Order: sequence, then structure tokens, then C-alpha cells
Amino acid sequence: MTSSWYQHEHGLIAVLTEVVVLASLLPVSVTSAQQPSCPSECGGVSIPYPFGIGEHCAWPGFTISCNHSSKPPRPYYDKVEIIDISVEKGEIRIYTPVLYNCSSKLEPPQPNRGHQIRATSLDAASNPARTFMQLNATGSPFLVSQEANEFTGIGCGTMALLSGRSDGSFYTGCITTCMSLNKAAKDGEPCTGLGCCQVPSIPGNLSIIQMSWGQQDSMLNNTAWEEESPCRYAFVAEKHWYNFSRRDFNDNGSKKSFILRDGNWSVPTVFDWAIRNNGSCPSAKSTQKAPACVSNHSECINAPNGEGYLCNCSEGYTGNPYHYYKATL
Ligand SMILES: *[C@@H]1O[C@H](CO)[C@@H](O)[C@H](O)[C@H]1NC(C)=O
Ligand SMILES: *[C@@H]1O[C@H](CO)[C@@H](O)[C@H](O)[C@H]1NC(C)=O
Ligand SMILES: *[C@@H]1O[C@H](CO)[C@@H](O)[C@H](O)[C@H]1NC(C)=O
Ligand SMILES: *[C@@H]1O[C@H](CO)[C@@H](O)[C@H](O)[C@H]1NC(C)=O
Ligand SMILES: *[C@@H]1O[C@H](CO)[C@@H](O)[C@H](O)[C@H]1NC(C)=O
Ligand SMILES: *[C@@H]1O[C@H](CO)[C@@H](O)[C@H](O)[C@H]1NC(C)=O
Ligand SMILES: *[C@@H]1O[C@H](CO)[C@@H](O)[C@H](O)[C@H]1NC(C)=O
Ligand SMILES: *[C@@H]1O[C@H](CO)[C@@H](O)[C@H](O)[C@H]1NC(C)=O
Ligand SMILES: *[C@@H]1O[C@H](CO)[C@@H](O)[C@H](O)[C@H]1NC(C)=O
Ligand SMILES: *[C@@H]1O[C@H](CO)[C@@H](O)[C@H](O)[C@H]1NC(C)=O
Ligand SMILES: *[C@@H]1O[C@H](CO)[C@@H](O)[C@H](O)[C@H]1NC(C)=O
Repeated sequence: MTSSWYQHEHGLIAVLTEVVVLASLLPVSVTSAQQPSCPSECGGVSIPYPFGIGEHCAWPGFTISCNHSSKPPRPYYDKVEIIDISVEKGEIRIYTPVLYNCSSKLEPPQPNRGHQIRATSLDAASNPARTFMQLNATGSPFLVSQEANEFTGIGCGTMALLSGRSDGSFYTGCITTCMSLNKAAKDGEPCTGLGCCQVPSIPGNLSIIQMSWGQQDSMLNNTAWEEESPCRYAFVAEKHWYNFSRRDFNDNGSKKSFILRDGNWSVPTVFDWAIRNNGSCPSAKSTQKAPACVSNHSECINAPNGEGYLCNCSEGYTGNPYHYYKATL
């Protein structure tokens, strides 16, 4: 994965662009099943096949690295940290960065020492405006889960935009208003536009998340913005994960709802994975098995999101259907 901060001039405004790419990890050799010697977890996170730590332990494109420089160690897919993996649902949860902007202070959280991303690759003082963020999973087995996520915008007068198809065929967003802090939703209330807005679902077959801000519009009468509520946010997170809190409007570092990971405010986001680039399920008549569904007690299911397939344990069996030995009665 290449993950980079870069900057380009946009008229008079220096635009800071964040691009996070989940690049394809092309296989060097093709393995059809995990070796028994492969580690099954990293820092308490279970890494079930077809995922594996190291190339020889994973199905092509499913290689995870376990970074031991933190305690406990953390699993990464390229540079993206993994929260957990579900074989049953064909889902993976990862931390994705929040697009945020605080008008008054030069924020952000002071990252732990050792994670000085901002100090090294970003001069926050001279390039304060984060106006765009992209998470690009093209070439990975991951697609943004359409059912499991929602898009949220927060702020006093925020137009939070979400797109993600390279042909521009998907573009949505939502708008918040709050004339004063007291007119915003109360803590825990649903995001209905009063300081917080949501788009409840995301289209299928989406491998790119792109977030940005719309033009501040004079129709948004947001006197609260500059005063007590200078922060705005946009993110795609697991459904129902975010609970609105007025404290997120202001810039009080550690009290935010988000998770500080490697110096970035982050949220859990659900992606659907599948065995991609390996055809689809053999027809019911065929005696062939799908190559990844090696267990005798596994069945092939066409991926619910995007192309490819998943393996499922046969009725009455549990375990890992991608494994020779692990589907058991
Ligand atoms: C592990 O994480 C640390 C801190 O985030 C980073 O500096 C280091 O490059 C990572 N190591 C590997 C092997 O990815
Ligand atoms: C926030 O956005 C405004 C307007 O787009 C910009 O002028 C400002 O520099 C940004 N501030 C931060 C801290 O990102
Ligand atoms: C996403 O990444 C792929 C592969 O690295 C690249 O070809 C593509 O141009 C990227 N898409 C965008 C919109 O940046
Ligand atoms: C999914 O999107 C890719 C491009 O991102 C496209 O080539 C493919 O045809 C799409 N598949 C479906 C089923 O829509
Ligand atoms: C904006 O808010 C101020 C203060 O509440 C109010 O006096 C004014 O009429 C509002 N303007 C519009 C266009 O709604
Ligand atoms: C939001 O509330 C739900 C239900 O109370 C809880 O499960 C979830 O962890 C909360 N989210 C955060 C980020 O605190
Ligand atoms: C946040 O910080 C501001 C000053 O920076 C302070 O006035 C405000 O009370 C703080 N809010 C919370 C919820 O801690
Ligand atoms: C934090 O963001 C920077 C900039 O995109 C990126 O280089 C770094 O890898 C991110 N850290 C994580 C854990 O995503
Ligand atoms: C699917 O994977 C198997 C095992 O790695 C390989 O032998 C086969 O050629 C692949 N099929 C396709 C269509 O890529
Ligand atoms: C799977 O089934 C075949 C044919 O019934 C049998 O020969 C083989 O031993 C079975 N493998 C396992 C691991 O049970
Ligand atoms: C997977 O198998 C279980 C029973 O073994 C079944 O209940 C479930 O519906 C199957 N999932 C799909 C997507 O077919």
C-alpha cells in the first residue's frame, strides 16, 4: 500500500490531499492451503485462512503483516490496521482515517511518540487544511460493505461529500446546520442534520472511498462554527458505531469519539472480502470444487458484493471451510 500526503496548489488555497491506497499484493507463488506452522493470530486478533501472516501462509492477495513494534502487536493489511476478520460473513473491519478540519486551532491530537506521522510527512502549521481524503482498495480483495456501514458528517454548517467510482457515477453527501450549540442535537440523539447528518447506506461494488467538503454556503447560517464549534468531520464507519456527541464539535483532543491510531483519528469500517480473480462457483452440476473451498465439508457461495466467491461450511459443520482439516462436525 502506498499511503501518502501530498499537496497541490488550487488557486490561492493550498490543498492538502490525503490518499490511502490498499494496493494489490500480487502473489509470488500460489498456495492452495495454509501451512500448519503459520501463526493463527496477531496481538489477539485471529487471522483465519485465506488470510495469513506472511505470503506463504495466505491465499494470494490475503497477506497480513504482524507489526511487533507495538504492544500488543498489531495486524496490518499493507498500511491499514485490522480490527478483526470474519470468515462466516466474509467481512473484515479496519481502521480508516476520519476527514476532519478544525477552524481555529492547528489541532490535532498529539500522537504518541514513535508515531510522528504529522511531524515527518506533514507540516501541519503551514498546510492546515485537510480538504480531501481517499481510501483506495482497488486491487485488494476488499470492497466497502454496503449494508454494514454508514456515512456521517459532523459540524456546524458542514457539507460532507462522499464519492468513490472512478467514472464519477457515485456522488452523495449530507448537510448539517446549527445556528448555536443549543440548537444542535443533544448527545446520543440520531443524526438528523442538526450538527450531524448521515447517509445510511453505500452502494455495492465500491472499492474507493473519497471524502471532501462542499463549499460553505451562505444559506447555512452557522454562527456557532467559528465560536464554540470549530470542528467538522466526515467518515464511513460501521453502522451504529458513532453516537453523536456535542463535544466532538470542539477541539478538545483526547475527548473525541474517534480512535487515535498511529496518529490519525480513525473509525472502524467494514469491508467485504471474497476470493476474487479466481472465477466463480462451479455450476451445481459440476463435480469440480471451487479451488479455495478445500474442505470436504465446504460449499461455494458467489460473493454477495462484487465478483468472486466465498466458502461456507456445509450444514452441520463449523470451522474454516478454506482449510483441509478445520471444518468439523
Ligand atoms: C511497525 O510500526 C511502526 C510504527 O507504526 C513502523 O515504524 C514500522 O515501520 C512498522 N514495521 C513494519 C515491519 O511494518
Ligand atoms: C479548515 O477549513 C477551512 C476552510 O476550508 C480552512 O481555511 C482551514 O485552514 C481548515 N483548518 C484546518 C485546521 O484544517
Ligand atoms: C486506485 O488504485 C488503483 C491501483 O493502485 C489505481 O489504478 C487507480 O487509479 C486508483 N484510483 C484512483 C481514483 O485514484
Ligand atoms: C464493479 O466495479 C468494477 C470497476 O470498479 C467494474 O469493472 C465491474 O464491472 C463492476 N462489477 C459489477 C458487478 O458491477
Ligand atoms: C442567521 O442567524 C441570525 C442569528 O440567529 C439571525 O438573526 C438571522 O436572521 C439568520 N439569517 C438567516 C438568513 O436565516
Ligand atoms: C454507541 O452506542 C452503542 C450502544 O450504546 C455502543 O455499543 C457503541 O460502542 C457506542 N459507540 C461509541 C463510539 O462509543
Ligand atoms: C473544550 O475546550 C474549550 C476551550 O478550549 C473549553 O471552553 C470547553 O469547556 C471544553 N469543552 C469540553 C467539553 O471539555
Ligand atoms: C495516518 O495517516 C497518514 C497519512 O495518510 C498515513 O501515512 C499513515 O499510514 C496513517 N496511519 C494509519 C495507521 O493509517
Ligand atoms: C484459482 O486458484 C487455484 C489455486 O490457487 C488455481 O490453481 C487456479 O488456476 C485459479 N483459477 C483462476 C481462474 O484463477
Ligand atoms: C475428502 O473426501 C475424499 C473423497 O471422499 C477422501 O478421499 C478424503 O480423504 C477426504 N479428505 C479429508 C481431509 O477428510
Ligand atoms: C452457510 O451455511 C450455513 C449452514 O451450514 C447456512 O445456515 C447459511 O445460510 C450458509 N450461508 C450462505 C450465505 O449460504
